[in-house]
Amino acid sequence: MFSTLVRASRQRYAFFAVHKMASIVVTRQSSGKTSDYCHHRLYSNSDESKPFSEIPTVEGWSPTATAEDQNTNYARLLERYGQVYKMREQGSDAWTIVVHGPKAVQAMYASEGRCPSRGRLFTEAISRVYKDNKWRPSMAFAGGQEWRRIRLAARKQATPKWAWQALDPLHRLGAWLGGALNGGGDIRPALGHWAYKGTALFVLGDIVDLDHTHKTFMRAGLKFTRSLKSILTSRNQNSDFVETGNTMRQLGRQIMERRYQRMKEGRETNTTLPGVFEEWIREGVFSPEEAVVHCTDLMATSFDATANMATFLLFEIAKQPSLQEQLYREITIATTTHRRVTIADLQQMRLLRDCVKETLRMYPPMAIGRRVVTMDTTISGYAIPSGTNVHATMGLMSHDPTYFNEPMRFKPDRWREKDTIQSFSCLPFGFGSRACYGRRFAELQLYSLLLSVVPRYKLSTTQQSIQVEYSSGLVAMEPVSLTLEAR
Ligand code: HEM
Repeated sequence: MFSTLVRASRQRYAFFAVHKMASIVVTRQSSGKTSDYCHHRLYSNSDESKPFSEIPTVEGWSPTATAEDQNTNYARLLERYGQVYKMREQGSDAWTIVVHGPKAVQAMYASEGRCPSRGRLFTEAISRVYKDNKWRPSMAFAGGQEWRRIRLAARKQATPKWAWQALDPLHRLGAWLGGALNGGGDIRPALGHWAYKGTALFVLGDIVDLDHTHKTFMRAGLKFTRSLKSILTSRNQNSDFVETGNTMRQLGRQIMERRYQRMKEGRETNTTLPGVFEEWIREGVFSPEEAVVHCTDLMATSFDATANMATFLLFEIAKQPSLQEQLYREITIATTTHRRVTIADLQQMRLLRDCVKETLRMYPPMAIGRRVVTMDTTISGYAIPSGTNVHATMGLMSHDPTYFNEPMRFKPDRWREKDTIQSFSCLPFGFGSRACYGRRFAELQLYSLLLSVVPRYKLSTTQQSIQVEYSSGLVAMEPVSLTLEAR
């Protein structure tokens, strides 16, 4: 089994071949005590809990040490140690427990407290780099009460209602993408630009032209985001990372200052959306100085996730012409009486929304969900003390046949039978008060992708799979070539 896994890790996206093995382990576990939760055992540390010391211990390996193909490593550990095990963090005495299974994930989030943390290693490593370079932490990288202040102040712009205002500008962006994709070939560059323009729309309220400043800023952001994992896995600061971070901040400031100047001159954006930068300043949510910091990080570090998910989404529908036809019908029926899809139409488009959901399941954006528990609790039958790091194997769970029938098949219809899908088995945007801030906007942008591409082109591909890797999220590491035939 071990050699199969190692071989699998070198193949394209083949780590999920381990799903059979995972099912064996899960079946064994679920017949034991771990499935016999009652509400009280989930949320509180009870006398019935087994002591922490009895959790199987993994020696000599840390989950952040081998970022490449993390799911394969987790599958191997699941097979060997079961659905809960513990390990020492790299270079520290602190324990991390790793859990598999929706009940354990639920228990982890239930104990995250008022200021959730993604873990000591994550927080400390990143905040050290920020502090050393005198970078002010933005929402994603702030901690404790400082994070809470930022997140609460900015909560209005994370709502669906806020995102919905962007539908018309996103249609325009979709029309731009339709042109950029023309001719087919590797779709990643066009989707990268489109995703960046989308995040810029959210932040600035403008559909930006990709001039030299934007292009350089975008490249710096990408490099910065993708090298974040090196900060987690190495104690040494990477000078490239610092240089990129500085370039990103300098250009981010220039872009925001340009926007601020236009705002002061009373010049409108080129869309109906104000953009969070303007809104935050006008509403006094943040000072202009602070708004620059948050907006720079949002714009530079978030678009990569959307770009990759968009790539996976178009690839999967290109492989299934009949699914594409169904989507085409769903969209054209909705647009028989009016030209542009509205939010009300979108709410009726189940297949379209389920294609997005299924992409996020099939290509899990994060291998692990991280939290520090802030109270003594019980997880998977063990007493877990407050302050313990918990890692949930979200990537592996998305492909576990215990939770998803035929997990390796792209089957959007599975989401219609909601009752068969367990809560907490698939959380592509995380969960709780520290879940993805851009979730509603990112979802809408992915819906708008299908709305603009499917009616215009028939997609096809001869490619069978995509080589992927985890950096800050799941990334397509090779060209993804599609043929686009105009309808
Ligand atoms: C499909 C695209 C995206 C995916 C799959 C994704 C996924 C995630 C995930 C898994 C987290 C961690 C959540 C947790 O720890 O519970 C996160 C955090 C975050 N995301 Fe996203 N994201 C996407 C797009 C975006 C966009 C477009 C934005 C901004 C416009 C954004 C802004 C953020 C921020 C600021 C955080 C940190 C939140 C905090 O610490 O309070 N994301 N995202």
